[in-house]
Parts: sequence; C-alpha cells; structure tokens
Amino acid sequence: MAARIIDGKALSRRLREEFRGRVGKLATQGVVPGLAVILVGDNPASRVYVGNKVKACAECGVASFHHALPAEASEAEVLACIDRLNADPAVNGILVQLPLPPHIDVRKVLEAIAVDKDVDGFHLYNVGGLVVGNTIFPPCTPYGVQLLLETTGTEVAGKNVVVVGASNIVGKPMALMLLQKEATVTVCHAKTRDLAQHTILADILIVAAGKPGLIVPRMVKEGAIVIDVGINRLADGRIVGDVDFAGVKEKASWITPVPGGVGPMTVTMLIENTLRSTERAHHLRKDDDYQDCEAPAVKAHADN
Ligand code: GUN
Repeated sequence: MAARIIDGKALSRRLREEFRGRVGKLATQGVVPGLAVILVGDNPASRVYVGNKVKACAECGVASFHHALPAEASEAEVLACIDRLNADPAVNGILVQLPLPPHIDVRKVLEAIAVDKDVDGFHLYNVGGLVVGNTIFPPCTPYGVQLLLETTGTEVAGKNVVVVGASNIVGKPMALMLLQKEATVTVCHAKTRDLAQHTILADILIVAAGKPGLIVPRMVKEGAIVIDVGINRLADGRIVGDVDFAGVKEKASWITPVPGGVGPMTVTMLIENTLRSTERAHHLRKDDDYQDCEAPAVKAHADN
C-alpha cells in the first residue's frame, strides 16, 4: 500500500495562522516580535534560506533585521554585531546563518548569542538543556520533524527510531529529542558500516545525510514512517531529498515529500521560537508551558 504523505506545507500554514493570532495579542500590549538574521558572505544556498526566513517573518507579522556582512568580515566584527543585538530590546531572536567562513570560530560566535535570544537553539546552554530534557529553544529542524511525527498520531515511546546523520544542527539534537520521548534511538553516520542493517529495523526512519538516493526500498521496513530532511539540488535543477521517494513510498506507512515536507517546518519553528522568546521577555509565558515542545495547531491537523 502506498504511504500517506506528511504535508509540511499544510502544517506550516496552520501554525503560521496561529502565530498571527499570537502576534496580534502581543500587539495589544504594544509589542512587535523581532528576529535578527546575520549572514556572513554570499553562499548562494544561505542567501535563499535567509530570504525564506525574512519572508516568513513578514507573513507572520514579525519584524526582521537583516545584517549582511562581507565574507572577509573579521570574527571581532561578527561578535560586535551580536553584542549590539543582544542589547537591543527590539530584537527577541538572533540567528547566525551557518556555515560561516572558515576564518571565523563558529563555537565562539554561537556562544556569544544571549541564551534568551538563541532561537536556533545552538548555544551550549540550550544544547545542554536538550540533553536533560528542558531546553528553552528546541533547534528548528528537529523541532519541525517532531511536530510532523505528531500529525501521524504515532506514539514515539518504545519505537525503534533510526536517525541517519549526526550533525549538530539535525542528527544529534533529533536523537536527543526522541530519546526524551522514550524512543529507542540509533544514530548512524558516515562511518557506520552496513547502513541497511540498522535502517531496516526502524519503525521511524529520519534521514539527514545530504546524499540523494541514499535510502532505497530494500533498506526500509514495511510500514515504517520515513522523514526525509535532505535537500539536494541535482544537475538537472530538480530538488530531491536523501530518500528514493517513488520506491520507498510503496513500503512506508507515512512519508515526507521533498520539497514540501521538513523544509517549510524548519522556517516555521524559527518563528515559533521567536514568538516564544518574545512572550518570555514580556512575562507572557513560563518555560514549563512548553516543556514538551508542543504547539496547539498540531493536534488540530492530526484530527483532520
Ligand atoms: N544552516 C543550515 N541550517 C541552519 C539552521 O537551522 N540554522 C542556521 N543558523 N544555519 C543553518
């Protein structure tokens, strides 16, 4: 039986509608949420991603402040820009688009961001929070994946989850978040021998390796949920994920498309984190309101 499609575009639309309501509520108190985005250099993919983030802000009523620095900007200049944004009360979230040019120490930069404005969730404090199960800002891509999984109505506890890819941005935080939800989590990476031996056991397979066609039907268990985080541009210009979608959808029970699956959710969760940061700054919510990293609109989607 062909898999059901997990529609990230539709869920994003719903969440963004909900966000507009939250922004309206903040407006009654004279508050406009603000997100600052720092882009160093002119990596074409990063420019597209930053453009999408700025567009999503406009769509939801969030003010965005775009800081474009040249590729040769010094580390000190980037740190000075972050210092100014940390002190600016109109800025509730700060995002430094990665990757940074090689002469800049990414760790130093991420740790300079005020923990309360770290809407990417990459500061060591927030990463540590993820380890113990109560980060302030869950990283956007794994957070989006978690909400997509919730729309399937599947209980994660006790399931075999296999995460392919161990990056700091996706694979590692994803594994921690699902471990917190009591899944049995395996993380595979570039040095894993016989990948298929692991993936075939997955009730939930999450692939974030950046390799088109990596996951083929023989590697997937019948009825598995397959989440494809990959975004790869082929020589002919097509955008594809890491999963052979046409083949694997015949075996999976649910699958995300590329594009239209995880991609839109990453940007949407950035807006969620920015609103969360704004609401915290204005004492409109407590951290324990969202310990489970949930958003109300997800339930509505799952019920439809
Ligand atoms: N580069 C690729 N993904 C991301 C992300 O989620 N956040 C930032 N800041 N940079 C990225």
